[in-house]
Amino acid sequence: MPFISRKTIDEIQTRLDPVGIIGEYVRLEQRGGNFWGLCPFHNEKTPSFSVNPERKSWYCFGCHEGGGIVNFVMQVEKISFPEALVQLARKTGVRIEYESDNGAVRHEDENSGREKDDCVELYRRVAGSLHHILRETAEGASALQYVHSRGINNAMIDRFRLGYAPSDRTWLYKFLSGKGYSAAFLAQSGLFSRKYPQTAFFSGRLMFPINDRQGRTVAFGGRILGGDGPKYLNSQESVLYRKREALFALDLALPEIRRTKEALVCEGYMDVIALHQAGVTNAVAPLGTAFTGEQARLLRRWAERIKLLFDTDEAGETAAGKAILVCRQNSVSCAVVRIELPGGTAFKDPADILKDGGESLLSESVKNVMLDSDYLTAKSKSKFLTRRDDTEGISRAIAFLIPFFSSIESEAEKDAFSKQLALVLGVDPSAVQHDLRFGQEKTAAGRRAGEGNTAQRCIAMNEELYVLTAAAVNIEVRPDLFNAVRKNLPAEDFEDRSAKELYLALEECLRCGELRLDALLSRLEDRALRDFVAGRSAGREFSDRMEQIVFDGIRGVKIKHLERRGRRVDTELRLAKNAGQDTADLLLEKQFILDELQTLKGVGYGRST
Ligand code: UTP
Ligand code: MN
Repeated sequence: MPFISRKTIDEIQTRLDPVGIIGEYVRLEQRGGNFWGLCPFHNEKTPSFSVNPERKSWYCFGCHEGGGIVNFVMQVEKISFPEALVQLARKTGVRIEYESDNGAVRHEDENSGREKDDCVELYRRVAGSLHHILRETAEGASALQYVHSRGINNAMIDRFRLGYAPSDRTWLYKFLSGKGYSAAFLAQSGLFSRKYPQTAFFSGRLMFPINDRQGRTVAFGGRILGGDGPKYLNSQESVLYRKREALFALDLALPEIRRTKEALVCEGYMDVIALHQAGVTNAVAPLGTAFTGEQARLLRRWAERIKLLFDTDEAGETAAGKAILVCRQNSVSCAVVRIELPGGTAFKDPADILKDGGESLLSESVKNVMLDSDYLTAKSKSKFLTRRDDTEGISRAIAFLIPFFSSIESEAEKDAFSKQLALVLGVDPSAVQHDLRFGQEKTAAGRRAGEGNTAQRCIAMNEELYVLTAAAVNIEVRPDLFNAVRKNLPAEDFEDRSAKELYLALEECLRCGELRLDALLSRLEDRALRDFVAGRSAGREFSDRMEQIVFDGIRGVKIKHLERRGRRVDTELRLAKNAGQDTADLLLEKQFILDELQTLKGVGYGRST
């Protein structure tokens, strides 16, 4: 087995630029002598991944992975040591020297990469030929005219290497075998029908080459120009082309994405081309799929913000809503382009604006962006709120926003969002906040319940459990939280069985002075409850706003308890009256309850923001 010589490895090591190489995968920012970014090996929200350019090493303080640059490339690309060296050799311009066991030295890489390279070469050649047919031949003339009729100019046709696949399905095979490609190689190239390996997959279509980040064509999309069939056909996936990870025009958009730290994601091939022609050159599009987490994370390497520009129809709006969540869940901030055309002209997509209004109208009309939160609140209002006092509409509007609320990472931002929503809906902010948080809890609990397929009892979050869980998971750092609960609420005021059990266990811990989570958990008999509390202690949901949760919770539980008591007193009053008994004590109690409730609801308890 030949192996890469020590000399080559050393040369690569000396020449490589750690920040440049890692910077292709992680957006790095300099702080002190090191560079920092979000770790590509675990999911995190704040950067704990560091690169030391002098030592040519990296280390993540979150997952404690680390090593050299070759090792980084191996891990991130999931490739072997020699494969990583081959990649880095290309980047650093080092010529690889192989050594055999017997000491013979040989240059050039003659193994694994070979087939891939041939395929790249083939696709490059095919893209070039189809482009030529579109641009220069009579056969492509009507396709060319179609592209022009869409307002696309020749510069863009060349830049995107648009092409035309001849309607004769046997042409491509003849052409390529004439160039010396073997039948076997062509059969697996993805350019031919699987069943009839000499019949071209694309015919009579306008061709869009799909390139990888380095600008190598790895697949095609083909738009129908007439007749029957799907509007677009796309190449099958291959070693080089994975739909979920690819973005149309990423190679062309990358310089501008890097420069502006923003990427514009739109819906289709035509839209991207129209935008580039209008000078909006950071535009990319997914390929026949919804925008994926892979694509968001890919863009996150260079972009701080993703702008979404989707069609204005119902489907486009739904897609935009989903894409917003995908961005948020992958820690990319996100905005929505709000196209405003003079006189409120309706439009379908950017390609239409180019065709009807020209380049400057298109570039102007995409300048107006809204924060994703503004976009969604406005949309929830217009979608669900027809009258101002429509209470059902209000709760549906809030429910609609729960997935978005859950995807917001920062507590401060969550708070601001619920206040903003309250303003838009014209209702009390704390009520909105409350509904959003419960909605989030409920979906999370539902998800967790769906995940565990054991037959054990499953615990759903409720208000009582919420306040006690917050106190429980913080028992080591803030034992005073439970103390506050205890002072305000006796165990009897809790109705929920699990909440009662948790209350008593906390009480015991406090009395024995065992202020540790493990001590608390060991006091819980119910395994489901134990898992429930232990599960909550891992996340951050109760660590950021624990005081607020506890103080709001105490108030909420108190109110619920008083209301229950009030209803009981009402029943007793009715019974007593019917039986002709003295009701003075009951009336006093009722008054007491009403006063308490009024204080709690009106003035508020503890802190309120
Ligand atoms: P559109 O139908 O909006 O196409 O689909 P478009 O790119 O705007 O094309 P024009 O303007 O009608 O000519 C958006 C994207 O969805 C994928 C393609 O990637 C397309 O660009 N798509 C659509 C398919 O993969 N297959 C289809 O049949 C339709
Ligand atoms: Mn379209």
